[in-house]
Amino acid sequence: MEPIRSLLFVPGNRQKMLDKARDVPADVLVPDLEDSVPPEEKAAARKVVAANLAGFAIRGQHLFVRINALSTGLGEEDLDAVLGPQIEGISVGKADSATDLVELDRLLGRMERRKGLPAGSIAVIPWIESALGIISAHDIARASPRIVAISFGADDFTADMGIPRTKEGTEQFYPRAAVAIAARAAGVMAFDTPFVDFRDEEGLARDCASVRQLGYTGKWCIHPGQVATVNRLFTPSEEEVAYCRRVAAAFDEAVARGTAATSVDGRMIDVPGYQRAQRILDLAAAIARRERGGAAGGRA
Ligand code: COA
Ligand code: MG
Repeated sequence: MEPIRSLLFVPGNRQKMLDKARDVPADVLVPDLEDSVPPEEKAAARKVVAANLAGFAIRGQHLFVRINALSTGLGEEDLDAVLGPQIEGISVGKADSATDLVELDRLLGRMERRKGLPAGSIAVIPWIESALGIISAHDIARASPRIVAISFGADDFTADMGIPRTKEGTEQFYPRAAVAIAARAAGVMAFDTPFVDFRDEEGLARDCASVRQLGYTGKWCIHPGQVATVNRLFTPSEEEVAYCRRVAAAFDEAVARGTAATSVDGRMIDVPGYQRAQRILDLAAAIARRERGGAAGGRA
């Protein structure tokens, strides 16, 4: 799947917000049926979201729907309402173990057959947001070939731990790092929890920079005003790209001279330094390709 930086949640029972979302340049739009929808509106939200999917698809926006976990008894009906050719995948909250994802994988397989969708075509992004989920993160990330990314959820995690959630997030350092490393080990993307102080742009920018450094490739947004900052912070900057180009050029030149170690700006560069630079250049190129093709690329 192409690089994803921003994913915008839109409460599934809010028609006005679903309309508004059409003009937001998020890499992925995610109508939500889970925690932004109160219990008494779950059934109505399914219908509202299902009725809106075609409109998003026409504009070619990447589309996932977040469903309730199967264990709530709501997930299967959510899937039945929204599964179709318009959506690229689903996101599912509160994944505690690989078994949850294996069960979901089988159910999706049956539904794909019933609805005439290609087998295995629906992608899955699980949320890891409990102590048990953190312990099982790598098993969850590789539980099914449908999984394209895993997400860390700080609100549910701190609720499960019985600790306050702070703005600076020191209590999230370990679980965030654990999810990013599990994602990398499984070869999938890692998306970070939403930044809930949605009017604090500088705080959001700092948060993005610190989790990018942990290995996150993108971040969830809860408000349209967050999307531009998230896109910017998860795109390698011009200075970063220029530096990586210099590293790659210096390394190539060193190899041509018969050595694998050289220096750039007084810093030693050898094979891993070159590989790091190359990965950032590849990411920047993939994002540039995507932007040239239009912010909304449709099914990846
Ligand atoms: N998607 C689409 N549109 C959104 C939006 C979203 N997630 N959040 C806000 N908007 C719209 C508002 O409807 C408003 O539209 P308008 O100008 O046409 O009236 C505009 O953006 C500005 O919104 P604002 O007044 O700044 O915020 P708010 O007070 O209406 O809403 C929240 C604040 C946090 C309640 C709202 O952003 C929200 O519900 N976010 C999603 C929460 C969620 O999905 N949580 C679950 C995941 S953890
Ligand atoms: Mg959650």
